[in-house]
Amino acid sequence: MSSILLSKITKTYPNGFTALKDLTLEVKDKEFLVLVGSSGCGKSTILKIIAGLEGITKGEIRIGDDVVNNVSPKERNISMVFQDYALYPHLTVYDNMAFSLKLKKLKKKEIYDKVINISKTLKIDDILDKKPATLSGGQKQRVALGRAIIRQPEVFLFDEPLSNIDAKLRMQTRIELIKLHKQLETTFIYVTHDQTEAMTMADRIVVIKDGIIQQIDTPENLYNNPNNLFTAGFIGTPQMNFIDAKLYKNNSELQLKFNIDTSLAINFPQKNTNIPKTNLDIVVGVRPEHLHIIQIPSDELKKDDIVLKNCSIEAIELLGSEKLIYLNYADTNIIVKVDASTSIVKSQKYNICFSKSDMHIFDKATERKIVL
Ligand SMILES: Nc1ncnc2c1ncn2[C@@H]1O[C@H](COP(=O)(O)OP(=O)(O)OP(=O)(O)O)[C@@H](O)[C@H]1O
Ligand SMILES: [Mg+2]
Repeated sequence: MSSILLSKITKTYPNGFTALKDLTLEVKDKEFLVLVGSSGCGKSTILKIIAGLEGITKGEIRIGDDVVNNVSPKERNISMVFQDYALYPHLTVYDNMAFSLKLKKLKKKEIYDKVINISKTLKIDDILDKKPATLSGGQKQRVALGRAIIRQPEVFLFDEPLSNIDAKLRMQTRIELIKLHKQLETTFIYVTHDQTEAMTMADRIVVIKDGIIQQIDTPENLYNNPNNLFTAGFIGTPQMNFIDAKLYKNNSELQLKFNIDTSLAINFPQKNTNIPKTNLDIVVGVRPEHLHIIQIPSDELKKDDIVLKNCSIEAIELLGSEKLIYLNYADTNIIVKVDASTSIVKSQKYNICFSKSDMHIFDKATERKIVL
């Protein structure tokens, strides 16, 4: 069993800074869990307290059925791969990989067989006699992985292991890590601030802000149902468009009006009774791919479509099969993602539309999602 349970963890560093606040997180056995969040949000701190490299101020950590608050890192059966690989510079690739097995006093032949076997899987069997300084970033990264795998831990912790390698190799290595996770059948906890990386690898993603978990969910659910403004803005590139608006009670209906153009009103049947009587400040979020450029005025609009008229174009960015159109609507910047074949004239003004069902609505004050 290699499930992990962090219960009500608070971590205050010796200088008085509280990096984690009352954090509860369950990692399931054999799960690929990815932690994401901006720099300084506490991702590495979470890994370090799971590994036992940092103590906690309050709370409880369980690995399997055991409370490990006072168990040393060595006894936790966890391997951690760091961003800078932390290879031993004076040892060859072979000796870097063999290091932990030698400490365990395994027989020479047994160590040899394991190193050869794992180095073949990771395609580093041809560089076993080299020293780390002579290796490329990708090779160092594989050696660090090999050194972690060889110990056969129950849990792997990865702290941004791909940030030092180029984009192409990073993509390949992501796929290899996914395969490795399947093959090893162990629990992976992986830290990144790259949400694309999180989306491609995770069974579940944990979104963190300022030491507090914002949402834990599958990549699909995070993308389709962000439960607050931070998650909505963090997951998805380019970022979700946000437009300020107000929500009014209007007899038996709720009416939404955009601040930048109050003639744009949308009515909702009043099901949600939590909306206060006074005008509620809200933020409407729409993903770039859910906005459409209306090419000809006669383009058919559905009854519930919302139209932003006379948007001017500020820039066009071609991304291969898609194009990003940066528009300005009444001093609000809006990004629309369209097929690359869509013809757009920069000097022209365009109307853009989106469907009521593609809107995400958030309370501006609490930043929480509102369901209408
Ligand atoms: N030893 C320490 N003493 C005091 N504060 C620390 C210590 N280590 C980390 N912190 C602070 O705790 C917060 C969380 O740090 P952490 O390294 O966990 O962030 P992170 O999410 O991994 O960031 P990054 O993406 O930049 O690696 C930061 O504000 C950091 O400055
Ligand atoms: Mg970090």
